[in-house]
Formats: sequence, structure tokens, C-alpha cells
Amino acid sequence: MPVKKNDAIDWNGKTVLITGGTGSFGRRFAETLLDRYNLKKLIILSRDEHKQHDMQQSEVFRDRDELRYFIGDVRDQDRLRMAMRGVDCVVHAAALKHVPAAEYNPFECIRTNVNGAENVVSAAIETGVPRIIALSTDKAVNPINIYGASKLASDKIFVAANMLAGDEPTRFAVVRYGNVLGSRGSIVPLLRQFAAEGRKSLPLTDDRMTRFWITLDQGINFVLSCAGLMRGGEIFVPKVPSMKIVDMMKVIAPGIPHEVIGIRPGEKLHEVLMSEDDTATVLDFGDRYAICPPHDSRVQAYHERRGATAVEQGFRYASDKNDDWLDAKRLKALIGDA
Ligand SMILES: NC(=O)c1ccc[n+]([C@@H]2O[C@H](COP(=O)([O-])OP(=O)(O)OC[C@H]3O[C@@H](n4cnc5c(N)ncnc54)[C@H](OP(=O)(O)O)[C@@H]3O)[C@@H](O)[C@H]2O)c1
Repeated sequence: MPVKKNDAIDWNGKTVLITGGTGSFGRRFAETLLDRYNLKKLIILSRDEHKQHDMQQSEVFRDRDELRYFIGDVRDQDRLRMAMRGVDCVVHAAALKHVPAAEYNPFECIRTNVNGAENVVSAAIETGVPRIIALSTDKAVNPINIYGASKLASDKIFVAANMLAGDEPTRFAVVRYGNVLGSRGSIVPLLRQFAAEGRKSLPLTDDRMTRFWITLDQGINFVLSCAGLMRGGEIFVPKVPSMKIVDMMKVIAPGIPHEVIGIRPGEKLHEVLMSEDDTATVLDFGDRYAICPPHDSRVQAYHERRGATAVEQGFRYASDKNDDWLDAKRLKALIGDA
């Protein structure tokens, strides 16, 4: 069941705030909104003035009067409250997301990803923002590293926030997906860099390892459609293809031998977007799944009335058991897009 037309938000005239607006997701999301709609205001909130300056000076964002650059830290609730006045939708993308950095600096990761989530929730309720979408990751499911654990805690905070909001109009939902093809520091640019450096071999963790793959634009369109579809408390998961890392290496850097280095601390062989423990409230929308909030059966009932269907008990959405696999041709097409 595709998203019904009348679910789509008319973003024209709206004020949108992106936390982490200078990151890979945030910049592209901002570009997409500015391309497609006449926003009233688009607020970019992040810490580093240089990234904001670079963004401001870039061809894409130069002379865009709708843009406001807000220096701010999601650890600072007062600043968030100030930034959220008059905002119609917050997309919460700010995060510390590097697994090894988070393992080494666990408190920093918790301050940004967990305390930051709480601050976004409190500021949004106090300022009456109608919709908040928080970005999550497959690493939040049965987490084995602090990054994943902090994102799981963040997801729980956003789902529970709908109860805190009570009769207030503020509603929160989460969007969760896997690896973004071509994002900063990810495998595709890294392999290209290794190939360009003329490396004699490429490090491969494990030739069985699989991941879910999505392009940034797919992720952005997914967030936009979920913002329209949400009732509050859902964790939306797109249906996306999987691929083995080793097969991806053969496409991106063909002819270079692989040296198996073993799985690194905090890494899994396969990723899971929804576990069998979620199935009681999981709905299938055709192009996506949603884990509906267990505390509010009205949300699940609403989506079921509109055609979403329950999944089989014990259903698990894992990157090694996916029905949809990327082959070389499709990967090349996706990388072209990315
Ligand atoms: N990339 C992926 O493969 C992937 C996959 C699944 C989910 N996600 C999720 O998608 C979201 C966006 O990821 P991304 O790839 O765009 O990350 P990114 O490129 O690293 O960008 C992170 C952004 O957050 C800002 N930020 C970091 N700490 C902050 C703080 N304390 N207060 C305010 N802003 C802060 C950064 O700017 P400053 O440093 O200047 O503050 C930057 O603008 C994250 O929530 C991530 O967990 C990403």
C-alpha cells in the first residue's frame, strides 16, 4: 500500500528545523526542501561555525533568504527552545555516529545522542512544534556498541515522548534505516580512495558480512513521506536491498585482492532493522514497515484501517535474510544516483 496522497504534507510556507543540518543528511535534506518548496524558514542547527559558513557559501545555498544558521548544541535545552519557536517540523539528525569514537568516548556519545534526544523532546513540547522526526539506525536493534545502544535509547525517548505530550499537538516518530551509500566516511568513498592510492590489497572484515543499503535521496524521500504518514510513536523502516560487503568491493574496486582482517569490536556480521520481538505491533505498508507504539493501540488501528497489514509472528528483518539483493548493475545505478 503506497502512501496515500492526502498524507503528504504541503511544506510550502512551513518553517522547518534540522538539527545536524550541516551533516550529510542535513545538507541534502535542506537542498531537497529548497528545491521543491517555498518554505517560510529553514533553520540549520549545529555546533561548528565553519561547516555552517561552508554551507552558506556553497553554490547550492548561497542567497537563499529562507535559511537561518543557528549555532547550537543539542545538549543545550535552552538553545533548542529558542531555535524551535514557530517551527512546524523538526528533523532531528544531529548525532555522534562513529562506532569506534563512541566506544572510546561513551559519555560524549550519551550526552549527544541520549541527553540530546531528551532535550529535543522537552523543547518541542514546550514550544508546541507539531511534528518531530528523529533519525535512527539498524545499529539500534539488539545493539552491541555504545552508538547503537545510545540510538536505541533515543528511539525509546522519542516513542515515549508521545505520552509525555499528552493532549498537546506535538507528535514524534522515528525513521530507521541501514547504511547510506556514499555518505561521509562510508565504505564506497573509502574503497575508491584505497583504489586511487594504488593499494595492493583491500581490508575485508568477513566474507559473509551483509548490510542493508539506501541512498541519501531515498532516505530523504522516506523521511518526507513518513512526516506525512505519522500519527505519533511509529518507528518507520523502509524496505531496502542487502548486499555482501565482499560483493560490493568487487564492484567498486575490481581486481584488487582482499585481505581478511576479522570483525572489529562493536561490529556485527549482519544488521537487523526489526527484531522478532517487535512483531506484535509491526505493520507492512507495502514499501515500508512501521513498528507501532505498544502504548497506544489507536495508532496501529488507524494504519490498519487505511490498509496496512500485520506481519507474521516471529518476523525478523535482517540483512542476511532479505528477499531483495543488490547485484552489480543495480549497485552501479544506485552509486550513480548517490
Ligand atoms: N550515514 C549513515 O550511514 C546513517 C545510517 C543510518 C542512520 N543515520 C543517522 O542519520 C543521522 C544523520 O547522519 P549523517 O550521516 O548526516 O551524520 P553526519 O554527516 O556526521 O552529520 C552530523 C551532524 O550533526 C551535527 N552535530 C553533531 N553533534 C551535535 C550536537 N551535539 N549538537 C548539534 N549538532 C551536532 C554535526 O555538526 P557539528 O559537528 O558542527 O555540530 C553535523 O551537522 C544521524 O542521526 C545518524 O545516526 C546515518
